[in-house]
Amino acid sequence: MYMCNEVIIIAAAASNNVIGKDNKIPWHFSEDFKHFKELTLNHPIIMGKNTFLSLPKKPLPNRDNIVLTFKDDSFDFSEIIIKHSLEDSISYAKQKDSKIYIIGGAFVYKQAIEFADKIELTKIYKEYDGDTYFPEIDLNKWDLISEDKKEFFSFQTYIRKKGNKYDFRINWVFSLWKRNCY
Ligand SMILES: NC(=O)c1ccc[n+]([C@@H]2O[C@H](COP(=O)([O-])OP(=O)(O)OC[C@H]3O[C@@H](n4cnc5c(N)ncnc54)[C@H](OP(=O)(O)O)[C@@H]3O)[C@@H](O)[C@H]2O)c1
Repeated sequence: MYMCNEVIIIAAAASNNVIGKDNKIPWHFSEDFKHFKELTLNHPIIMGKNTFLSLPKKPLPNRDNIVLTFKDDSFDFSEIIIKHSLEDSISYAKQKDSKIYIIGGAFVYKQAIEFADKIELTKIYKEYDGDTYFPEIDLNKWDLISEDKKEFFSFQTYIRKKGNKYDFRINWVFSLWKRNCY
């Protein structure tokens, strides 16, 4: 079991934060696909059901494909791992590897940005028309630590500022105790 894990969000977003339209990514940059493949290869990837269904080739090869759905009926796909909560999917992935990639889409990014350690964001310089968005990156919580500027987009890496992690695994119970007097 890996004890020191890193949960990494990986996404490509337009300048207006659009990430998808009609369950597709509305652009094609082969350099970005190569970057995605280089980073995620041989690591577990966690995605929502819509993102999985949108993949032209599924499952993505040489990676544990972990797919989230709230529903009990399973997919007609072999070689994927189905989980019904993000917490379960991360616990499962942590047994497999020290790096876990959250690959989308919008609904899953919105949940994961509350606790992920790192964001690998391809920020496209242009606006796109779309129906799904990457959540706002709050710079009070995240530091941009590197930026590699290309012709049409830049590869940005953010890490969470220290002390700003919400750990969804911790549940608090407040209990009040009173001594019995006999
Ligand atoms: N540009 C990029 O980098 C990028 C990357 C990935 C995806 N995308 C785009 O994003 C769009 C899809 O995003 P989306 O928000 O519609 O869908 P999504 O996040 O891919 O999937 C949403 C579905 O996943 C399941 N789910 C999500 N969180 C869950 C949880 N905590 N527990 C259990 N199940 C959970 C639910 O499935 P059920 O309804 O079955 O319960 C939910 O309806 C597409 O356009 C895609 O092309 C873009």
